[in-house]
Amino acid sequence: MMGKRIGIVTGGGDCPGLNAVIRAVCKAANRRQWEMIGILGGFDGLLSPDSARLLDYRVLGAMLVRGGTILGTSNRGKFTAKTGHGETQEIPEDVLLRAHDGYTKLQLDALVCIGGDGSLSIAHQLSRAGMRVVGVPKTIDNDLAATDRTFGFDSALACATDAIDRLHSTAESHGRVMVLEVMGRNAGWIALYSGVAGGADVILIPEIPFLYEPILAKIKERADQGKHFTVIVVAEGAFLAGSGQTTLETSEHQEVRLGGVGELVTRELTERLKTSVQPQQARCVVLGHLQRGGPPTHYDRLLCSMFGTEAVELIARGEFGRMVTLNRNELTSCPLEEAIGKLKVVEMNGSVIKAARSLGICLGD
Ligand code: F6P
Repeated sequence: MMGKRIGIVTGGGDCPGLNAVIRAVCKAANRRQWEMIGILGGFDGLLSPDSARLLDYRVLGAMLVRGGTILGTSNRGKFTAKTGHGETQEIPEDVLLRAHDGYTKLQLDALVCIGGDGSLSIAHQLSRAGMRVVGVPKTIDNDLAATDRTFGFDSALACATDAIDRLHSTAESHGRVMVLEVMGRNAGWIALYSGVAGGADVILIPEIPFLYEPILAKIKERADQGKHFTVIVVAEGAFLAGSGQTTLETSEHQEVRLGGVGELVTRELTERLKTSVQPQQARCVVLGHLQRGGPPTHYDRLLCSMFGTEAVELIARGEFGRMVTLNRNELTSCPLEEAIGKLKVVEMNGSVIKAARSLGICLGD
């Protein structure tokens, strides 16, 4: 198949591995003599096709290890398609028409859309509007039910686990409670996996509303064992039983920005620990966007290489409106509609939760 012209766009929040996927798609496509066109600045770039750039893998350097996205991205703008999980917004008809015009003007045969839940919802709507679209699943949250893994998750885990390791030594030196707030809006995968991998004592996730009493009991249990320090990992979407998530702001599109639960927990524990026999201080660290920056781990590089090349295979086979997936270590694909429909949350009887409980980790319940 000679002479295809394939567009590629990165949407939503960035994460390690975006460039590795762009590289894989470009390499596999260029080897087929297809031309690759990079859409700049997220989906809004489709509205200004003149800014798109030709991507030739031979002149792209060090893409496998480079963090972020050379194409730029945005999780705001004209293409907002999600305000929260399950709350899909229809993209206005005129915006879809203009996007279609951009796609036509660029003479694209297909468009590779790399993104999470929100961006894949946009991809789905572009596909319904008549564009030939293939999706690649990205999000550090790893919360798409259609795929066992999204790329970016492993790199975020490495960052969070490293932070827990570092907090352990300072917590021990000062005899403190250290609270680490990690990302994870609706699903606590990063908190749970990094917490177990880093040997945290308490892990709080959105799937299990927490209470302070079990956390305080854990701190006391440790103190009774002579361990006058405790490491707590809390997902940004975790919340106290009976109350809501902690938010920083709500955008004009009603999109909520989470954050602050770490500080809330730290303040409350500080107060409550003042009256204990051996009072401990508590400190909070918000890991934030460090989890989304820097080079991808070896696992993510591998996954990105597999996802990117499979996206090209889908296009070659004419299978559009689909997203590449990884299930039981096999590359597969599913309709975009299924990809955006279901959130993957931590299962209460899953192996990692079971291991955490067996290890005596407090999950706040
Ligand atoms: O969806 C991925 C994610 O990293 C969430 O965990 C987090 O809530 C959000 O993006 C933060 O996005 P930003 O600060 O870039 O708007």
